[in-house]
Amino acid sequence: MATIQDAVRKKYGAIASSVQKAETTGCCGPSACGCGDPITSNLYSDAEKGALPDAAVAASLGCGNPTALAKLEPGQTVLDLGSGGGIDVLLSAKRVGPTGKVYGVDMTDEMLALARENQRKAGAANVEFLKGTIEAVPLPDNSVDVVISNCVINLSSDKDAVLREVFRVLKPGGRFAVSDVVVRGEVPADIRRSMKLWVGCIGGALEESEYVAKLRAAGFEQIDVEPWRVYDGMYEGRFASAFIRARKPLP
Ligand SMILES: C[S@@+](CC[C@H](N)C(=O)[O-])C[C@H]1O[C@@H](n2cnc3c(N)ncnc32)[C@H](O)[C@@H]1O
Repeated sequence: MATIQDAVRKKYGAIASSVQKAETTGCCGPSACGCGDPITSNLYSDAEKGALPDAAVAASLGCGNPTALAKLEPGQTVLDLGSGGGIDVLLSAKRVGPTGKVYGVDMTDEMLALARENQRKAGAANVEFLKGTIEAVPLPDNSVDVVISNCVINLSSDKDAVLREVFRVLKPGGRFAVSDVVVRGEVPADIRRSMKLWVGCIGGALEESEYVAKLRAAGFEQIDVEPWRVYDGMYEGRFASAFIRARKPLP
């Protein structure tokens, strides 16, 4: 586990530093491309991007827009797992308003520094970026209404621990509304073994039914995995961006 986590931290730390130096961004995908990438391109509307600091948009490394997927209400508490430069935290903060609160958790110091700078530029008072891992979330039980995440759970080498933590921090009836890369069918073993593909969000991706089984084992109900962008021309269309939704049952 330490090896994968160290490699992930190193890769995303370097990307955060390059965004801070206003260099070309990297991307979630296996190549360091930043533009025209099949995973990260065209995820947010012009209106959403226009309302955020440029560096928050430039640091976007997701594979979907979980804030469009999640129904957020004023006053709610939201948690973004692997918040990166903070794009989804800042978008959610506008939706939950001054009576709500949005936490971003990330393990990479450079990303936290970038996110806090973006928060300052956006003037978002209802936001807090916490240092921690998504396998051991630094928040109390039953404290969050909605957990979002954008292309991060695939990077974890202990996805069961992540989903157990999501279940623990959600309030009863709370929602999991996540964008992630999923696999459709079998993944060749050489892809699984490649650290480069793992840190690029591909190697660690779960198969659709595996995702459902893990969510069910963690205690979730109303589980839905909806692939919406298949990466044609990449590993025979085996990989896709998906919206993943689930609910923590009421007592
Ligand atoms: C692909 S980027 C996505 C960032 C952001 N969600 C976005 O959409 O732009 C992955 C982020 O997750 C963080 N991350 C990866 N694995 C993590 C873990 N196990 N615990 C905490 N943060 C993690 C990385 O530091 C990085 O900021």
